[in-house]
Amino acid sequence: MKLIILFLFFLSKPLIFVTTQDTDDYMNQLDPKLLGLRNEEKLSHFKLYWHDIVSGQNPTSIVVVPPPPSNMNITTAFGMVNIIDNPLTLGPDLSSKLVGRAQGLYASTSQSEVNLLMAMNFVIIDGKYNGSSITILGRNPTLNKVREMPVIGGSGHFRFARGYAELRTHYFSPKTMDAIVEYNIYVLHYSCSDSIHKRLLNFLLITLGLYILFLPF
Ligand SMILES: *[C@@H]1O[C@H](CO)[C@@H](O)[C@H](O)[C@H]1NC(C)=O
Ligand SMILES: *[C@@H]1O[C@H](CO)[C@@H](O)[C@H](O)[C@H]1NC(C)=O
Repeated sequence: MKLIILFLFFLSKPLIFVTTQDTDDYMNQLDPKLLGLRNEEKLSHFKLYWHDIVSGQNPTSIVVVPPPPSNMNITTAFGMVNIIDNPLTLGPDLSSKLVGRAQGLYASTSQSEVNLLMAMNFVIIDGKYNGSSITILGRNPTLNKVREMPVIGGSGHFRFARGYAELRTHYFSPKTMDAIVEYNIYVLHYSCSDSIHKRLLNFLLITLGLYILFLPF
């Protein structure tokens, strides 16, 4: 008998907590726990070195839009755009442990100083955070000693991430234009250790257990 009820329960109420039937109500309120979001946010700090390799046989940073010749200013390089797939390592040496890549672009956006608009995804390719990424979008006046750019979001372990990155130039060669920049990144994010599906299943099983427990027969 209980098996039949159990079966009916699954038939009648599959995922009722996730979707609603209202056709014109396309935005639904969800319990954050359903997405594996525990109540507390955690603050993570990590330090990475960003290698902008412009010179040599295998550049990871490529000028895709040169500054317009009619309006060329060598100092500001206003109008120049680079696309990057830069290595992120734990130490300042390129030979130290590779933990991620900075993929995105930067553009010279000031007519009066050296300043970049940067839009990058830092994708982690090692360890617990393998496959997760954070997105950085900000203003980088590269000659300043310390620069700050916002972390505006993330994926995987970094869903709902927000925070900031502090940049310090570790090395720059005016000859090759290669640079190594230290990134100290501070992000608030949730601990998403369990998958969504596992948490959803747990939730359903507990509900089902309570349901059966309080059946009037
Ligand atoms: C480039 O821009 C800077 C900052 O505005 C200015 O001081 C400099 O004279 C400009 N150089 C040229 C060649 O126009
Ligand atoms: C990271 O994840 C990718 C894709 O799932 C996998 O191929 C790779 O081996 C992983 N790397 C490490 C170091 O775990």
